[in-house]
Amino acid sequence: MVNNAKLLNWIDEMVHLCQPDTIHWCDGSEEEFNHMANQLVKRGSFIRLNPEKHPNSYFAITDPTDVARVEDRTYICSLKQEDAGPNNNWLDPKEMKETLRGLFTGCMKGRTMYIIPFSMGPLGSPISQIGIELTDSPYVVCNMKIMTRIGEKVLDSLGETGDFVPCLHTVGSPLEDGQQDVAWPCSKTKYIVHFPEERAIWSYGSGYGGNALLGKKCFALRIASVMARDEGWLAEHMLIVGVTNPEGEKKYIAAAFPSACGKTNLAMMLPTLPGWKVETVGDDIAWMKFGKDGRLYAINPEAGFFGVAPGTSMKTNPNALIAASKNTIFTNVALSDEHDVWWEGLTDEQPKHLMDWLRRDWKPGFHRPAAHPNSRFTAPANQCPSIDPAWENPEGVPISAILFGGRRASFIPLVYEAHNWQHGTFLGASVASEMTAAAFGAIGQLRHDPFAMLPFCGYNMADYMKHWLETGKKADESKLPKIFFVNWFRKDENGKFIWPGYGDNIRVLKWIFERLDGKNNYTESALGHIPAEGAVDITGLNLTNDDMKKLFALTKEEGLNEVKSLREYFERFGARLPKEITEELNALEERVNKL
Ligand code: OXD
Ligand code: MN
Repeated sequence: MVNNAKLLNWIDEMVHLCQPDTIHWCDGSEEEFNHMANQLVKRGSFIRLNPEKHPNSYFAITDPTDVARVEDRTYICSLKQEDAGPNNNWLDPKEMKETLRGLFTGCMKGRTMYIIPFSMGPLGSPISQIGIELTDSPYVVCNMKIMTRIGEKVLDSLGETGDFVPCLHTVGSPLEDGQQDVAWPCSKTKYIVHFPEERAIWSYGSGYGGNALLGKKCFALRIASVMARDEGWLAEHMLIVGVTNPEGEKKYIAAAFPSACGKTNLAMMLPTLPGWKVETVGDDIAWMKFGKDGRLYAINPEAGFFGVAPGTSMKTNPNALIAASKNTIFTNVALSDEHDVWWEGLTDEQPKHLMDWLRRDWKPGFHRPAAHPNSRFTAPANQCPSIDPAWENPEGVPISAILFGGRRASFIPLVYEAHNWQHGTFLGASVASEMTAAAFGAIGQLRHDPFAMLPFCGYNMADYMKHWLETGKKADESKLPKIFFVNWFRKDENGKFIWPGYGDNIRVLKWIFERLDGKNNYTESALGHIPAEGAVDITGLNLTNDDMKKLFALTKEEGLNEVKSLREYFERFGARLPKEITEELNALEERVNKL
């Protein structure tokens, strides 16, 4: 029996508004998942994959217009516009509610409203939070079952008075009496809306990814970042890994990179240095709170991976492929004649024939990708061979280092260390990345993406920087994680990547590990501490001393360009930009001028 008054009242109100034909409370069982998957197969939304290759797994194709997060349709409707900041779309919450009430009226006619109680983080963890998603999409239910912890146990934990984040979702495609459904219902009109003060999410018109699986970017980043600001913790777009050295000592590291910079690959890395081990706690989101000992502890609020498929292979990320070998939903990849999945980069040899993500015939030599560049696998985290034994620890794991990074062809060295938390906050604020084909915008153009949170920060980014600075001031700095910046993507004069990346990134993690132990293996540079000559272990690599020099070379001209670009970017925050950030930028300029 559900007896939470806030929940029952809200559902009543939303049923009245959306007018579904029926209501289904999700219990989170396997039977329920199988039943819904069967329904999706019947409707033509899912194709069951060959069980010998992918047991209990499905292939789905979206509408060709519903393939990615829609940042231009994403809103933070705080009471005051300046609280949303220049980094967010904003509309007056009253006005927005009116628009949404109009759109949501009768939006679930002819459909079922599924009620999904979900927990972000292990049930019972002091860091976890509960959400309830109401949706008319069985595809969303199946994905939420993999990505979060759902069902009755969450309602039990909510109890009579527990609080939750209300997450309302519709594909925005009501069915008239007798109207035939389509394989991927959605609407041309899309709104992904957050009300931060109310801690509520309304999502209209899309059925895919971060637009529709509301626990992920909408709750765990945009709404949670607001909760974290108000309550003194951190909600971050970060992977979490445990790194163990050959002596068996283990440290946990969190890392924030913009989308398409290899977070999932780093999270599941197979180290090339003998004796080193990397274990996965999470690949996308970290919630961090201070423990009684004054250290920062992190949980992964998710229970699955929503990984980009193209480029994932047994060479680049075998752990991800094994995680996605069963009980997985593949969306917008290509389908082989044997009902197996394929995407660009999965194998060197291309299959002889495929059905591409637009349901067309595809053959090698066609000048178009078979899988959409943003095609995904939704896979349970506990199937990942590198999953960390403590990944569901309710207390979280203690974080020793935080890494920021981006895709930078020049200037930014392979790795450098911040002088202190304030300088580290500046490093986070100055994250920028060159755009890849998978994102919108001109390829190669630099996009500033502070803390890799630009599309995910639920409030003014300048206040976000302030929150980071204040977090540092309140803490015992000796117990705070040390902050580093990494760049795997530096190119030589011929446009070739200098650093091999992937499993060899352990060599950088090893240097960081040693710095955390206080080893004096660094020298000063204009940016921060960089490895002393010979301090990055490159045994067995085909890299010359000259290559290593190129990975750390800093020129005055490039440095001044960097400072100029940052100054221009920060200007948009006006007087709200914390003075510490300007101080750090001025100090950087001074150091660069001495180059
Ligand atoms: C993601 C993203 O899907 O960051 O994780 O875009
Ligand atoms: Mn992400």
